[in-house]
Amino acid sequence: MLETRDLTIRFGGHVAVDHVSCRFEAGTLTAIVGPNGAGKTTYFNLVSGQLPASEGQVLLDGEDLSALSAPRRAWRGLGRAFQLTQLFPNLAVLENVRLAVQAREQGRGRAGLSLFSVWLDRRDWIAEAQALLAAVRLADKAEAHAASLPHGDQRKLEVALLMALDPKVYLFDEPTAGMSVDEVPVVLDLIRELKKRRDRCILLVEHKMDVVRELADRIVVLHNGAKVADGAPEVVIAMPVVQQAYLGAVGAEAGPQAEPLDSLSRPSPSERGRSQHE
Ligand SMILES: Nc1ncnc2c1ncn2[C@@H]1O[C@H](COP(=O)(O)OP(=O)(O)OP(=O)(O)O)[C@@H](O)[C@H]1O
Ligand SMILES: [Mg+2]
Repeated sequence: MLETRDLTIRFGGHVAVDHVSCRFEAGTLTAIVGPNGAGKTTYFNLVSGQLPASEGQVLLDGEDLSALSAPRRAWRGLGRAFQLTQLFPNLAVLENVRLAVQAREQGRGRAGLSLFSVWLDRRDWIAEAQALLAAVRLADKAEAHAASLPHGDQRKLEVALLMALDPKVYLFDEPTAGMSVDEVPVVLDLIRELKKRRDRCILLVEHKMDVVRELADRIVVLHNGAKVADGAPEVVIAMPVVQQAYLGAVGAEAGPQAEPLDSLSRPSPSERGRSQHE
């Protein structure tokens, strides 16, 4: 479904994503892991079109989307979680989700043609938005301004918006970062449900290896922007190159013994309070 070919970006002399070629099929969940600064978020930005690639292509269902802007790619089905700055902060939480549902339906050409059908559609959109808010446990915040939500609730709203748009390819970049322990399972349950549908392609950047082990069908490891491992979770986790890649990131003082991959679960800068790159 999604394919990247030699996807590359350079910032000055620094290659942040280095010729990454991958295919991701519908019905699969791929975890993208790697140490802080490995290029995971940048890879997502290249796929979604938020950053222009220096080299390489992004294909969706065989069609080259590389020349398209981020909104046009989203229109075709590449979905990346919103940041609050991309929402309508002064609108109610429910209105934000309703607009996302509406945008999706109108994109699919199901906008009403008569005033009555618009009214009927609007009722459906609101009902769906309410259901999505209930799913992320934000129903009681439906009337709050989006900007007034605490950080964890904003992240849940981002997930609800992505679900509302229902892209073919879901790009989740540390979706539970900054959430309290009781909020994390809410989002993970939604990703589990999404996976059960078998018709969506899910890419998940996640530092928590227990989550990766449970959810991923496949793990891709990035290190210094390059793909250093790709395969079934149990195989990838056991690969020396993965242990070494991680050891390299930990630093020379870590000594000759490889750090366990579980250490990837240490909080990233973005988990400590949103990434400095965003
Ligand atoms: N807009 C930019 N300009 C210059 N350098 C950038 C830019 N965006 C990212 N980088 C650099 O690219 C590299 C990869 O960063 P990226 O945010 O993709 O890492 P990451 O794997 O998502 O890390 P983390 O786990 O901390 O979120 C880093 O060295 C970062 O400093
Ligand atoms: Mg990141």
